Amino acid sequence: METLKCIETRRSIRKFKSDKIDHTTMEAIVKAASFAPSWKNTQVTRYVVIEDEAVKAKIADEGVLGFEYNSGTIKRAAALVVVTMVHGRSGFERDGSYTTSKEDRWETFDAGIATQTFCLAAHEMGVGSVIMGIFDENKVAELIGLDESQKVAALVAVGYPDEEPAAPKRKDTADLLKFI
Ligand SMILES: Cc1cc2nc3c(=O)[nH]c(=O)nc-3n(C[C@H](O)[C@H](O)[C@H](O)COP(=O)(O)O)c2cc1C
Repeated sequence: METLKCIETRRSIRKFKSDKIDHTTMEAIVKAASFAPSWKNTQVTRYVVIEDEAVKAKIADEGVLGFEYNSGTIKRAAALVVVTMVHGRSGFERDGSYTTSKEDRWETFDAGIATQTFCLAAHEMGVGSVIMGIFDENKVAELIGLDESQKVAALVAVGYPDEEPAAPKRKDTADLLKFI
């Protein structure tokens, strides 16, 4: 797919067919996402794909701060991707000090870029996705047994789309752009 078309036609998908995503496809999506830029090429973003229905249901029931909209999306998804980041590298000097006043927030920035790259690559391969920010990061980390060196950045529900939502309205370019 042409790049601009891929960017413009990707939508957040919250209704999915029952088909599973095979591992070869998921590996190709993550391979594409690995080409996302990152702070000093630290590549701190990781992807934990939850296919196990029991674990996925537990996250849906206990890991989204009671936000039922996300519980439903997760239960309908073929898989739930927990996007995680290795803490303490992106935005840091070798001696452990922060490089800039944004402190450790560069790791979240990196994970965001990687996550959007993941979603665009998924879209190219016919896989729908929705990024979810409303979740309990400590609970999700506990439910997936996340190593203490990592933090949860986002949840992404994935699956073959069973809806074709229209694009929510975008702001005019003139409101977004300023030249100096
Ligand atoms: C950081 C972030 C957090 C989001 N959190 C949620 C969420 O918790 N639940 C949800 O259904 N959608 C969530 N979304 C999806 C947005 O609602 C969606 O991207 C937006 O409405 C634009 O629609 P589009 O992605 O189809 O263009 C989130 C998106 C981002 C980038």
